[in-house]
Amino acid sequence: MSESVAEAVARQRQYIAGGTMSINRAITPPKLFVRAEGAYLWDDSGRRYFDYHAGFAPYLFGHADKEVDDAVIAAIRSGASLIGAGTMPWEADLAEMLVEAVPGIEQLQLTSTGSEAVSYALRLARAHTGRDKVVIMQGGYNGWADYVSYNLMDPAAVVGSHEPGTEYAPRVTTAGIPKVIDETVKVIEYNDLAAAEAVLSKGDIAAIILEPVLQNVGIVKPQPGYLEGLREICDRTGTVLIFDEVKTGFRHALGGYQEIAGVTPDLCTFGKAVANGYPLGVVGGKQEIMALCNDPDPKRRVVIAGTYNGHPVNVAAAKASISRLMNRREEVYGELERLGARLQAGFEAIFAERNYATTFARQGSAFTLYFMDHAPVNWQDIALNNDNERDLAYRRAMIEAGVFHFPAATKQSSISLAHTDDDIDQTIEITADVVRALG
Ligand SMILES: Cc1ncc(COP(=O)(O)O)c(C=O)c1O
Repeated sequence: MSESVAEAVARQRQYIAGGTMSINRAITPPKLFVRAEGAYLWDDSGRRYFDYHAGFAPYLFGHADKEVDDAVIAAIRSGASLIGAGTMPWEADLAEMLVEAVPGIEQLQLTSTGSEAVSYALRLARAHTGRDKVVIMQGGYNGWADYVSYNLMDPAAVVGSHEPGTEYAPRVTTAGIPKVIDETVKVIEYNDLAAAEAVLSKGDIAAIILEPVLQNVGIVKPQPGYLEGLREICDRTGTVLIFDEVKTGFRHALGGYQEIAGVTPDLCTFGKAVANGYPLGVVGGKQEIMALCNDPDPKRRVVIAGTYNGHPVNVAAAKASISRLMNRREEVYGELERLGARLQAGFEAIFAERNYATTFARQGSAFTLYFMDHAPVNWQDIALNNDNERDLAYRRAMIEAGVFHFPAATKQSSISLAHTDDDIDQTIEITADVVRALG
């Protein structure tokens, strides 16, 4: 007999440090999901859920996409192993496609994860500028590297008294970060151009790194002129502008959010949707900076290395994903926008009738329902205004009703190309019932 959820949780607690792989996956109440395909998840009892979590967003085409999986299987069958000596043709194929697709990539390196790509982007920026400090965003998430594991989502008690135009004291999000790193990290609010100006104008910052849309605290869009303003300050102060497009990349446009914004960063990082769920990261940017990987001066040369970098399985998945986006660009992004708009219209009709405030924030297929009366401009705004208790109660009730949004307040949800009109309409119907029952 298969194990119960309680038994599975107990076994995980016994053998897995922290109880779940990747500790941000822990959910209450616990669930035991055993299968995913297309737009759906199944739990151990065989119950099906509409999935809007999408494994923290990589599944742009849906789970177990046949086209991507067939490309992976074909690569394995053809002998495309991890040879690890010199160059392999499939690596250049993918690199060429990505250079063509993304305005800010003139050259690149492949990694296995987004976090590694971010670590290397910061290393490149430091080597390029000869400076040590980096600026990150309060409420931004850029993976697990020491230099970005700060001020992930400071509580309302901390952000409440924060003055616009100023920086936060660095506050680590994990134990084990050397104290000296604190001196190299500057933290400001997103959409606060005055704070960026104040911190960068001293001329001692190597890089400012940000998600061009904050997507780890929902959907927080740049205000008009914000990204352009950062570009101008970085140019003036010799700071490297890094867009972390691990979540925005390929989901909103083939060229990343930078293509939509019309602002080209010096370096950018990708992951998630680039390979539709297979583990691949990309760090790329201006040739002038990426050339440090090959600098004849060993003191300037930047090392980017890894046994699994450019693993043929992941490269095959990325080639299949990116070529599909290139060949069917209008169709794919048009469909994702159409599905997103359909869901938004349904949600807005449901919540318009409630006696509490909600705001549906959306960029194409990525969305969040905030329990506050306006679209937030930064984390401080969310921390002070979102009704987290109602948010969480709603998410948990939706899961019980068969629709999976991650059960943590303000977490962003994703629609995939595998969702159909019928899935969206059923989701709206279930949502209406749940919201009515919650009162
Ligand atoms: C914007 C952003 N950057 C970096 C990362 C880290 O990527 P990975 O989990 O592949 O290391 C994530 C992951 O959620 C992310 O959303």
